[in-house]
Amino acid sequence: MKEIVLSGIRPTGNLHLGNYYGAVQNFIKLQDNYNCYFFIADYHSLTTHPHPDDLHGRVKQILVEYLAAGLDPEKATLYVQSDVPEVVELYLFLNMNAYIGELERVTTFKEKVRKQPDNVNAGLLTYPTLMAADILIHKSNYIPVGKDQEQNLEKARDFAERFNRIYGVDFFPVPQAFNYGNALIKVPGLDGSGKMGKSEGEGNAIFLCEDDKSIRKKVMRAVTDSGPTEPNQVKPEPIQNLFNLMKIVSAPETVQFFDDAYNNMNIRYGDMKKQLAEDIIKVVTPFRERIIELSNDDEYIKKVARMGAEKAHESASKTIKEVREIIGFRSF
Ligand code: TRP
Repeated sequence: MKEIVLSGIRPTGNLHLGNYYGAVQNFIKLQDNYNCYFFIADYHSLTTHPHPDDLHGRVKQILVEYLAAGLDPEKATLYVQSDVPEVVELYLFLNMNAYIGELERVTTFKEKVRKQPDNVNAGLLTYPTLMAADILIHKSNYIPVGKDQEQNLEKARDFAERFNRIYGVDFFPVPQAFNYGNALIKVPGLDGSGKMGKSEGEGNAIFLCEDDKSIRKKVMRAVTDSGPTEPNQVKPEPIQNLFNLMKIVSAPETVQFFDDAYNNMNIRYGDMKKQLAEDIIKVVTPFRERIIELSNDDEYIKKVARMGAEKAHESASKTIKEVREIIGFRSF
């Protein structure tokens, strides 16, 4: 039997090129080799936004964009978290054996407390338990997570081991981080920041749904400098970032051409950006067209969401039934 890989996606923001070349391409590879569960973590949104603006619309947009980017509902189980309420029951059980002290020590919790001092709700504190429930409900083996989620995953491991120990069973596999290794392509941002999506700045990221005009505008505004002052000099960070971006979207000859120009000190950043913008547009256009097409196909989206919910429910209800038995709940 294939091992289980699971990942949750928060319904915030649109997919940008950084997400695409990073996590999404990785998901696309994983869905061919593992039993994958990818879900939209809409319950989790309530920890920061008690009344999220257009929750359903955002969930749909994320679903559409991931489908457009290449997630295949025939290969992976793609679902919306709130379509599988069994996860809430497991969350409750796990919370009974999760301790305030350990939850308070989680750095993402401390950060949120700093960011939203007026809304330090219990959901925020138990965010790691809900995430553990997401993971354990399908008895997942591997979780592809970024650095910022490592501690949450650590808690999921603790909760899995604790459950097994308290009830004297070997029931939950202890989930492992899926190590991307160096396989992930890092896409730089356009505002000189090292990573696309890292800063919230308007011009930093290029989205898969973005139109040509807006792409040109953002790229033309990318941070540069006054140019090289000696031949073959080391490129300052914003310039290196621009070249790195070009390496991802442009032909090798194009990169070579501007690299030579830089080394000979006759580079014109304006020309380089124009070329870069056109090459980005070539990458983005098919995605944008597919996003528009899917957004207008409510029947298809509904079919995908239902199919995902059904598959996820099947696995989740099996787990929860066994968990109830293990703890000692019996129906009359
Ligand atoms: N906490 C994750 C994030 O902020 C999203 C998430 C929720 C998740 N549940 C998960 C990720 C389960 C992996 C597994 O990105």
